[in-house]
Parts: sequence; C-alpha cells; structure tokens
Amino acid sequence: MRRRGVRASAIACRATACAAAPLAALATSCVVSAADAPSPAYPAGFASFQANCAVCHGPGGAGVPALAPPLLTQTVRFGASPEGRRQLALTVLYGMIGDITVEDKHYNFQMPEFTRLDDATLAATLNFVVFDLGHAPADVKPLTAAEIAAERTHAVDGTAVREHRKSVVAAAAP
Ligand code: HEC
Repeated sequence: MRRRGVRASAIACRATACAAAPLAALATSCVVSAADAPSPAYPAGFASFQANCAVCHGPGGAGVPALAPPLLTQTVRFGASPEGRRQLALTVLYGMIGDITVEDKHYNFQMPEFTRLDDATLAATLNFVVFDLGHAPADVKPLTAAEIAAERTHAVDGTAVREHRKSVVAAAAP
C-alpha cells in the first residue's frame, strides 16, 4: 500500500461515524485528531500543523482557494535545495505578504509569523508538511532545528520573504 495514509485519513471523516451522526454532531465527529492519523513520521509536526496551520492551509495541506496556497508541491520542491530550505524557514518564522502564484493560482493574503514557536517545533512542522503530507523523495533531508535557528539571527519582514521566494523560484526554473 502506498504511504498516503496521513493525508487521506487526516481529511476524511470516519464514514461510519459520520453517517450515523445527526447533522449537528457532524462537525465534532469529523474533527481531525491525532488518533485518526496512522502514526505520522513527525508526530510533533502533525500536532503543531493541526494547531497552527490547518485553519488556513487545510488539515491535509491542500490549501483553501483564494485564502491560502496548497503546500504539497512547491513547498516540497523547496525542501530539495539550500535556498529553498532557507525560504521555508523564513516563511514560517516571519510569514509572507504579497501576491504569489502556486500551481497556476494566485494568492495575495498574509501568512502570519510564527517566531513564538521554537526551532525544533518549526522544523518538525515543516517536516510533517514536506514528508508526511508532501511525500518528498528519500534523498531530501529532514529540516533541522539548526536551519531554523540560522534564520532567527536576521529578522526580515513578510515582503522580503516573498521577494526571496521569487528569486528561489526563478533560480529553480528550467
Ligand atoms: C491565517 C492563515 C494562515 C496560517 C494560520 C498559516 N498560513 Fe501559511 N500561508 C498563508 C497565506 C495567505 C500564504 C500565502 C502568502 C502570500 O500570498 O504572500 C501562506 C504561505 C505559506 C507557505 C509558502 C508556500 C509557497 O509556495 O511559497 C508555506 C510553506 C506556509 N504558508 C506554511 C505554513 C505553516 C507551516 C503554517 C503553520 C505553522 C502556516 N503556513 C500557517 C496563510 C496562513
């Protein structure tokens, strides 16, 4: 069986529970919980993602049209290059503001900053996205707390994060 478990089951309600539940109870019976996910490789990242990110990006990272981009393709690509990894660290630390294009769709809203989360939590959150949700290839190395810490030493704003993204995407273009 392919390892798509986390994504599929994180989004899906338990069909039987939902079918049996009266409408009013649906919302609670379909809530994503750690118990529903078949052991993500990054459990701390799973918990942090559901607590801090899922409200905008969706529990499976598929994004929400016109609100927040999907994290399953471009974000995974970022994980494979040094500047892309810096971009991921910058995005979660300082947020991002301004128009970006992801999978041919425009997003122009504000990603909040998460400097309050510690380095290990941010690294685990990104690893949950890149590996558990995005199924990055085996040659991509997990992000480390040290990579997050390195970006804390020079704070930038969300506009600069978006500018950096532009240069990373352009450099990676064929
Ligand atoms: C309030 C909504 C919101 C929350 C909460 C949020 N994001 Fe975002 N995120 C966005 C928006 C909006 C963008 C696009 C910003 C833009 O248009 O410049 C974005 C962009 C991103 C990107 C960049 C994608 C790319 O292709 O460059 C990543 C990675 C990301 N978010 C990860 C996360 C993670 C991890 C968390 C939780 C720690 C999180 N986001 C929490 C709204 C949110």
